[in-house]
Amino acid sequence: MSHQKRILCIGAGYVGGPTMAVMAMKCPEYRFDVVDINPDRIARWNSDQLPIFEPGLDEVVRGARGRNLFFSTDIADGIRAADIIFVSVNTPTKTFGEGAGMASDLQYWERTAHEIVEHAEGDKIIVEKSTLPVRTAEAMERILKANTRGRRFEVVSNPEFLSEGTAVRDLLEGDRVLIGAHESDSGRAAAESVADIYRHWMAEDRIIMTSVWSSELSKLVANAFLAQRISSINAVSALCEKTDADVGEIARAVGSDSRIGSRFLNASVGFGGSCFKKDILNLVYIARSYHLHEVADYWEMVVRLNEFQMHRFVQRMVREMFNTVAGKRIALFGFAFKADTGDTRESPAITVARLLLDERAKLIVSDPQALENARMDLADAGEGVTYTPDPYTAAEGADAVAVLTEWRQYRDLDFERIFRSMRQPAFLFDGRNILDHHALRKIGFQVYPLGSRALNSF
Ligand code: NAD
Ligand code: UGA
Repeated sequence: MSHQKRILCIGAGYVGGPTMAVMAMKCPEYRFDVVDINPDRIARWNSDQLPIFEPGLDEVVRGARGRNLFFSTDIADGIRAADIIFVSVNTPTKTFGEGAGMASDLQYWERTAHEIVEHAEGDKIIVEKSTLPVRTAEAMERILKANTRGRRFEVVSNPEFLSEGTAVRDLLEGDRVLIGAHESDSGRAAAESVADIYRHWMAEDRIIMTSVWSSELSKLVANAFLAQRISSINAVSALCEKTDADVGEIARAVGSDSRIGSRFLNASVGFGGSCFKKDILNLVYIARSYHLHEVADYWEMVVRLNEFQMHRFVQRMVREMFNTVAGKRIALFGFAFKADTGDTRESPAITVARLLLDERAKLIVSDPQALENARMDLADAGEGVTYTPDPYTAAEGADAVAVLTEWRQYRDLDFERIFRSMRQPAFLFDGRNILDHHALRKIGFQVYPLGSRALNSF
């Protein structure tokens, strides 16, 4: 079947795969090709074992794959055939040279620009899907325009706002689609072509058109605002533990002001994920590069507060367990950075586990989806860590349980059984405040909710 338009996505990761799958489902008259340099990833996209776990994704992929959705490693061919090229390669924090630990590492991004120049035969619209520093489109354009050879390249910014664990729902029912383009006839036409894809299922008033620079910067700012809310409530949680106030009650009282809103006010052991820290540090780096040091310091505190929260959580564990956890068995319930994903990138569980290992604790890590990644994250920890998907096995003979991921199934566990199998006194540290703390106290646990008074017998 010949398709009206051909769309290519370079980068078959957490963003590229689900985004193209949903687009293919909604736009049957277009053909979508997803390419990647990693052949294993592509093989898994073509198998029944998709490379990422996302609720609902299997069905969407199965419905479109082989019809108008194709995964391959043939990047050159993909570029030649495409009308529109989405680029959703990874843009991690730089680990070397100028800006190490702060700036975005754009080597993967730049490589795609050169590949496009090398293989494109006609005009192309290039869509920045990756999260990028403001004014990156300028660099992409310079590379492309230095090599036009009669071809026209138009760069459009279309950042992605999906969250892991709810990617399919976010893509189908997102609050908005943001498209940034240059203020020229060709820029506007390119933005319209991209908007036409989304118009298949998104209402017109949810499609926001801006300049390229506003679009690029909006993405960093959106993540910074979300993370800032978590750091704000986590800062309050520390104060609550000193004053007998309850952070959950405060979140409810404060969040019911419609100007503030109730979402993203769950105090936690800390935020994780591949993007919040990276994007804020990128924002900080950009602000510093313009000598806006107060602006940079302001946003940097969001990340520093997050580090403080993870350390504070472990310090409280050690203090409450009679100032030593050396040789004690601690069961970690959850290792993923949030529920409904197997992703552990920047998971607070990694920091908590490492700090506990420094204190010579013995860890039993449990998680329904993330054990494969957890094993890699703690590969150097040796015999200090064991792994099991079953929380009951993890808790057997343990001195403490620490809840680090808000998996729903942890709420429904038989805590009487867990309590009986543990060493006494049995400690429970709820780093996500998902459990019924009064019920646990009744069973006999020494309970430490986050951001409120301990329920204990000491
Ligand atoms: P990822 O690491 O899961 O996937 C990126 C893929 O790009 C990898 O499979 C890699 O092999 C491939 N790649 C790298 N260079 C390539 C090249 N030259 N040619 C072909 N393929 C190449 O990353 P991700 O989580 O999908 O994130 C991608 C971008 O989207 C990042 O900028 C990120 O900040 C942003 N983002 C991520 C999320 C999220 O939830 N993960 C949400 C919104 C935005
Ligand atoms: C986040 C944003 O929510 C997305 O809009 C964005 O597209 C994405 O980053 C990105 O750019 O990568 P994600 O990291 O997948 O999505 O997940 P979130 O739901 O935002 O959670 C991030 C972290 O904050 C998790 O560790 C979560 O447990 C924590 N969190 C979240 C809290 O501690 N408290 C809350 O109230 C909410």
